[in-house]
Amino acid sequence: MFCGNHASLHRTLLSFQESSATGERMSDEEKYIRQDCPIVHGIPMVSAFSSNWERIDNFQSRPEDIVIATYPKSGTTWMSEIVDMILNDGDHEKCRQAAITNRVPMLEFAVPGKMPAGTEQLAKMPSPRKVKTHLPVRLLPKSFWENGCKVIYVARNAKDVAVSFYHFDLMNKLEPHPGTWEEYFEKYMAGRVSYGSWYDHVKGWWEKRQNYPILYLFYEDMKEDPKREIRKVIQFLGKNLTEEDLDRIVYHTSFDIMKENPTTNYRMIPQSLMDHSISAFMRKGIAGDWKNHFTVAQNERFNADYEKNMAGTTLRFRTEV
Ligand code: A3P
Repeated sequence: MFCGNHASLHRTLLSFQESSATGERMSDEEKYIRQDCPIVHGIPMVSAFSSNWERIDNFQSRPEDIVIATYPKSGTTWMSEIVDMILNDGDHEKCRQAAITNRVPMLEFAVPGKMPAGTEQLAKMPSPRKVKTHLPVRLLPKSFWENGCKVIYVARNAKDVAVSFYHFDLMNKLEPHPGTWEEYFEKYMAGRVSYGSWYDHVKGWWEKRQNYPILYLFYEDMKEDPKREIRKVIQFLGKNLTEEDLDRIVYHTSFDIMKENPTTNYRMIPQSLMDHSISAFMRKGIAGDWKNHFTVAQNERFNADYEKNMAGTTLRFRTEV
């Protein structure tokens, strides 16, 4: 999303903010603000990301690439920070030299004419590249499978994702406005949100494990025992770290530390795109917040729909820890 170190990141953001203030460029920006999601290969996509999709379909991976795939709001940033810290042997000073959006670019990100696309950032990155994506499994560029890239998937329970996604859509202006919680709840249940149905996403990636070695982790497990789950990532990446390194990674990737870390809390993103005064990107970081938002009636309807959609899969979630 952003190239370079802190200084160049600030320059990029500044030029974005300055251009937002000029009338002519304003219309450029407005093209992407609060737009409905066009359908790309059968799923609703963030409008700004949706043009020139050949760049995604034809993306060329490198064998050393590490993919971090998630449905939105499932702990992507958390896992991105964990992977980057592991690759840097737990050296948090090194990790803090650039925004997470720069250390772990988002493959499909684009705001044409405004910021470098994820594919452009990745083209310039030295290996091993860390690639973030929210794409459903069938839309991941096939080059990643062909090159045998390491793939980590993080899943989070559907109810907490709904609440987190709702608050995210309130503050992130590249998304359509979510409306009221009641309205959003209906859209989410119907899969009429960016990246489509949560069910298709988590089940699609789960099934892919049958023919490809994906490290499939759960947000709730990471909350329950971050050290245990981080160990799994270290092993999967074939790294050898000391117990001290591991403890440092656990500490620096905790919610409280990441919330205050300017390179991970998304406060470097211009307010014209993300308004933290509406809702912080690092919002609550817990399992079970859905209970504060779902009405009893909504919960009953959701549970019935969930049963239907999850029938026949071995995939199981916990909605609290
Ligand atoms: P909430 O909105 O429920 O607080 P993503 O990075 O995929 O967009 O996910 C964002 C969600 O993960 C937000 O959830 C955010 O607070 C939470 N999150 C980010 N870092 C976290 C951490 N270190 N520990 C726990 N939750 C974290």
